Amino acid sequence: MKYIVTGGAGFIGSTLAKRMIRDGHEVVIIDNFSTGLRERVPEGATVVEWDLTSEDIQTLASHMQGADGVFHFAALPRVPFSIAEPIISSKHNVFGTLHTLVAARDAGVRRVVYSASSSAYGNQPVLPQHPDMKPQPLSPYALQKLMGEHFCSQFYALYGLETVSLRYFNVYGPGMAEDGAYAPVFAIFKRQYLAKEPLTICGDGSQTRSFCHVDDVVEANVKAMMSEKAGKGEVLNVSGPTSVSIKDIADRFNHPITYLDPRPGDVPHSLGDIERTKELIDWEPKIHFDHGFEALLKHWGVR
Ligand SMILES: NC(=O)c1ccc[n+]([C@@H]2O[C@H](COP(=O)([O-])OP(=O)(O)OC[C@H]3O[C@@H](n4cnc5c(N)ncnc54)[C@H](O)[C@@H]3O)[C@@H](O)[C@H]2O)c1
Repeated sequence: MKYIVTGGAGFIGSTLAKRMIRDGHEVVIIDNFSTGLRERVPEGATVVEWDLTSEDIQTLASHMQGADGVFHFAALPRVPFSIAEPIISSKHNVFGTLHTLVAARDAGVRRVVYSASSSAYGNQPVLPQHPDMKPQPLSPYALQKLMGEHFCSQFYALYGLETVSLRYFNVYGPGMAEDGAYAPVFAIFKRQYLAKEPLTICGDGSQTRSFCHVDDVVEANVKAMMSEKAGKGEVLNVSGPTSVSIKDIADRFNHPITYLDPRPGDVPHSLGDIERTKELIDWEPKIHFDHGFEALLKHWGVR
């Protein structure tokens, strides 16, 4: 089968692309390499250098001809950037998704699996977070990702394009972003640890997050693409089984800590209910955080 992977030069997309090639599929990566890295592109993948903000849908659709499915990862997944630059981030995260859906529809693709985000939940009083809860996006990024979900379910209802939205909860693993002001918290800790600087925590570190290993996220994508029970615009959580506090993660580095002001738009707690995900695509995480995180620290040379 032929599959399109938008954002396939990014962290999760390149891991998925590698997996699909290993499984014997033809993979076409569509990426503008804004944050994606060429060295991440797996051997055997065809690369189309393309910016999904382009309104040339015909050309985009021509790249998707003959594909069974599209895994849509491309985005600028950074909360602070979306607050600083709401227009630019909306162009990538909203129009990038809309253009992908229109092109997939026009090319006759069977299904699109969309990378949604748990940030759509915002600050919920009740945990675990369930897809039926009223979303409370706290940042332009969260709102943009939520709009993508709504476009996905509309495209099924209006045009019959099968879609599944997967709401990821903090994805980690080898290949995750390590540089720049918007690198995820682990990677910032790693950089500070190796530079022998104190680890910086925004707020008091009591914020909790559910972390999901990238290999589990890839498996959820494959199952969402193949499942006969899903495809009608569903929104499914892809969450780890428990949550961990930021302070707990910092403590695992066994290193001095400095506390900074809380960040605007930061969600205090996150943990997803995965019952619907289990039911519709038969997925649950396999990699326990303690093991996945230790392996990452070894991979980084921290242990
Ligand atoms: N990493 C996480 O913890 C996490 C959590 C929730 C949701 N997500 C979602 O998962 C997806 C993948 O995340 P990631 O961590 O791999 O991100 P990433 O930044 O590593 O990869 C994103 C890729 O998209 C490409 N891209 C960005 N804008 C583009 C455009 N306009 N046209 C073409 N390509 C473009 C980038 O070059 C990059 O290769 C994103 O949609 C993100 O919102 C990620």
